[in-house]
Amino acid sequence: MQNIIEDLKKKFKEEMQKVSDKKLLEDLRVRYLGRNGELNKILRGLKELSEEERVQVGRYINEFKKEISELMETAEEKIKQMAEDFSKEWLDVTAPGAKLPQGHLHPRTIVLRKVEEIFQSLGFSVVDSREMETDYYNFQALNFPKDHPARDMQDTFYITDELLMRTQTSPNQVRYMEKHNPPLRIIVPGKVFRRDASDATHESQFYQVEGLMVDKHISIGHFKAVIGEFFSQLYGQKIKIRLRPSYFPFTEPSFEPDISCTFCDGRGCRICKNTGWLEMAGAGMVHPFVFKSAGYSPYEWQGFAFGFGLDRLVMMKYKINDMRVLNFGDLRFLKQF
Ligand code: DAH
Repeated sequence: MQNIIEDLKKKFKEEMQKVSDKKLLEDLRVRYLGRNGELNKILRGLKELSEEERVQVGRYINEFKKEISELMETAEEKIKQMAEDFSKEWLDVTAPGAKLPQGHLHPRTIVLRKVEEIFQSLGFSVVDSREMETDYYNFQALNFPKDHPARDMQDTFYITDELLMRTQTSPNQVRYMEKHNPPLRIIVPGKVFRRDASDATHESQFYQVEGLMVDKHISIGHFKAVIGEFFSQLYGQKIKIRLRPSYFPFTEPSFEPDISCTFCDGRGCRICKNTGWLEMAGAGMVHPFVFKSAGYSPYEWQGFAFGFGLDRLVMMKYKINDMRVLNFGDLRFLKQF
């Protein structure tokens, strides 16, 4: 008999653990203490026992009853407390969620994407390229023979006698034409390398965007129209273009397009040094030598090419006066974009 009561106690305590609300607690009470509950069942069986046993078991059961009542009381108290806490707790479902820190684009990426978008709208494809080049594509194929003085224009990081870090994106003119037939319109953005001391307007790594258009009857007029449209779209205002004669081994004639100053609209200010013009790029008509390097007939095809510094555009767009901040990775600067 004692064992049966002990087991019942154990079972009760286990079930008690799981009780989480008033209703379940009441169910439990009825099942143990109710008229047809477990304890009454045992009490009914007492008749069969001897006088002595009956007294002992009766005592056990009374103790058990007391224990149950106490446990029930504490449980009830706990459940009441929980309900109270719960009703005090208030959730504002209209409160805005916690903002997670979000990454964002580098200012150079923002400008490059805009540049690509504009040229694509003018029918140009964006072409990928390599940063390590051969002397042949970076120089020889572009009409810089070995020992040509024009190589001095570009201080080169050599890896071996033949391999170098490209000093310009121009090698992709020949690389692309070798693999594709004309007519074509491409831009090739990418990083270039020069042994320049770094200062506010020079870095040993910077970005260029190369452009090339080849067709049957391409003139400087086409170039002026394309580049004028590009800058006007980029700056969201009408930009005038002026071509200054220049020299590059791989273009003939060569020129440097200036754009009307975006800060003073050409009237003259500190930024354009009162000239009304800003230097933007190198450009020219593709030299017959370059067409020959690529296997095109210079008698059949004509084209213009240009290369401009992307970092310069970024600096002008965001009025940044030191190029080096674009490479520092300083979050205080980068977070502003
Ligand atoms: N590659 C030249 C440089 O880095 C820029 C340039 C000039 C590119 C004339 C061209 C071009 O495509 O036609 O200085």
